Amino acid sequence: MINEIRIFSPGTVSNVACGFDVLGFALESIGDEMIVRKTVQKGLTINNVSGFDLPMDIKKNVATVSAAELIEKLKPDCGFEIEFIKKIKPGSGIGSSGASAAGSVYAINKLMGDPFTMGDLIKFAMKDMQEDGMFEHPDNIAPALMGGFVLVKSISPLEIIKIPSPNDLYCTIVHPKIEVKTSYSRSILPNDVSLEDATKQLANFGSLIHGLHTSDYDLIKSSLNDHLIEKHRSKLIPKFQEIKSECLSNGALGCSISGSGPSIFALSRGIDSAKHVEQSINRVYSGSGLEFSTYVSKINDRGVEII
Ligand code: HSE
Repeated sequence: MINEIRIFSPGTVSNVACGFDVLGFALESIGDEMIVRKTVQKGLTINNVSGFDLPMDIKKNVATVSAAELIEKLKPDCGFEIEFIKKIKPGSGIGSSGASAAGSVYAINKLMGDPFTMGDLIKFAMKDMQEDGMFEHPDNIAPALMGGFVLVKSISPLEIIKIPSPNDLYCTIVHPKIEVKTSYSRSILPNDVSLEDATKQLANFGSLIHGLHTSDYDLIKSSLNDHLIEKHRSKLIPKFQEIKSECLSNGALGCSISGSGPSIFALSRGIDSAKHVEQSINRVYSGSGLEFSTYVSKINDRGVEII
């Protein structure tokens, strides 16, 4: 029986331009590590060894709120300590809280001998945060747990569909070091959208899914357009339009906001193209006085894993 486990939980890009709240994918080279160990004393404890400020109250930390859901169901004869080695900055738009929530339920499930299904784990990780009504979106949690591109067909009942990831698809991320809270980023969205925009979005979304299934990079390219969300949220991100136009003119298949921002993602065919896109982003932000970091990552098809 194992008493301690160390896991990698990947960062994720949700929305993927035309799939607001229903599509996300996992990243290979960006993610959090966590060590989860059984304790004699029941309940949950947090140990933060990362450089980031994390809520230490187990009722406010997404990892322990999710873990508490699982524990409530399983009633194990032990407790758990969760040690965070966080590498994704909270509020970055690349699935920081999704990685924490997915990682804790995955690790505890493994320590207890895998009693729950993937669907159960996604539901535990989606547990509402009690205090501020924050809701963990499955478009981050599901790809973090399952890897690859994941489509959230329905939340209640939960229906999740894994979509194939073309082999040569790479992601470039830029994270401007400003904080955009998901709650604020959602509050600025209109409640209604025009029929014309909804129609364009549907066409792009269906085509993107087909392009991913058939590894049709031209179709992926022509589908990565958002008619509903980007025009509102892009105002929160410095030089968004400039970054996007540089990415597209330097070979990216598409570029949009990662999750609720402020990170921006671009998808490219091949690692060389993704690195070229990264350089074009560096040129725009360098000298702007803005702190930022960039990453290039393959799509992670495995999801959370033991390391
Ligand atoms: N899809 C949600 C949003 C979650 O865009 O608000 C963000 O991670």
